[in-house]
Amino acid sequence: MQKNRWIELLLLCICLLRFASMAAAAAAALGRSGELGEEKNFEGSSDLVDLQYHMGPVLASPVNVYIIWYGRWNQNQQATIRDFIYSLSAPPSSASYPSVADWWRTVRLYTDQTGSNITGNFVLSGEFYDYKYSHGGYLSRLDIQSVIKNSVAASNPHALPLNPHDGLYLVLTSADVRVQDFCRAVCGFHYFTFPTIVGVTVPYAWVGYSGTQCPGMCAYPFAWPKYSGSTNGGHGIMKPPNGDVGAEGMISVIAHELAEVSSNPLVNAWYAGDDPTAPTEIADLCLGVYGSGAGGGYVGAVSKDAWGSGYNLNGAKGRKYLVQWVWNPVSRRCYGPNALD
Ligand SMILES: *[C@@H]1O[C@H](CO)[C@@H](O)[C@H](O)[C@H]1NC(C)=O
Repeated sequence: MQKNRWIELLLLCICLLRFASMAAAAAAALGRSGELGEEKNFEGSSDLVDLQYHMGPVLASPVNVYIIWYGRWNQNQQATIRDFIYSLSAPPSSASYPSVADWWRTVRLYTDQTGSNITGNFVLSGEFYDYKYSHGGYLSRLDIQSVIKNSVAASNPHALPLNPHDGLYLVLTSADVRVQDFCRAVCGFHYFTFPTIVGVTVPYAWVGYSGTQCPGMCAYPFAWPKYSGSTNGGHGIMKPPNGDVGAEGMISVIAHELAEVSSNPLVNAWYAGDDPTAPTEIADLCLGVYGSGAGGGYVGAVSKDAWGSGYNLNGAKGRKYLVQWVWNPVSRRCYGPNALD
């Protein structure tokens, strides 16, 4: 009974309901009403959002991030993602405003019951290359925890440390790996490990490479859903600033999951809605919103680089990124540092 209950909880957890949002965006682009879009996107402030704090912890201490590269990755994809993690807490001198670190400042506005803010300090402390597909080409949600277990197994010559104090495990699956619910309902999710599988309780997130299996859903807005019948309502498909639709689609999903795992790591801190098994979290509230004026299939006011690629944040090492906004608990609206007002 216990086990079934957990599996049920897990299945219902923390989903990135991008599909619903995209369907809504597509519907809006076609001029139909986007019911889900109206419900999910709050670019203007809203009293309808009942985001609440449920007394649990947030990630307030400096976080050690451990990336598990599952499957086959190329070095450009890895560098793009690594540099994004680094950009979260890079010094102001390394990237001009609006930077990725400026974007994270909105997430830092969330506190726990002791008044501690979410950390602004992420250190990429280890990487594990699971190039042998330790659990095969199809992973269930629970298998993700076994993938983490494998990466910390002492028998493994390049094992990651098992760090339940301030560790965060980020499992990234390559283009050819199928994951339960990937592309059907989610592009990524976060949760925490069970002691029975991994040995400890530690937060983790998974994100799938979005360029191959469902770019129109998980690499938005660098690709558009086939069924949308149009391309961004005339705004056109956006080019990715680092040249890889899949890896850059992942960036915004990774950012989304990091914001949510930090504000709701044990699924008992910050979320809206009455149902803790299907919470609406701080990034869910702003799906599809990347700049001022977003809505109806329009991503909002973002910048274009010299090659016409869309971005809204500057990263370290001269990189540019396009990342969705998150809910600001003080001004009670979706916000990002590229806001025009
Ligand atoms: C911590 O959160 C409070 C409440 O939102 C906010 O006023 C304060 O500026 C935050 N501190 C940092 C360092 O972000």
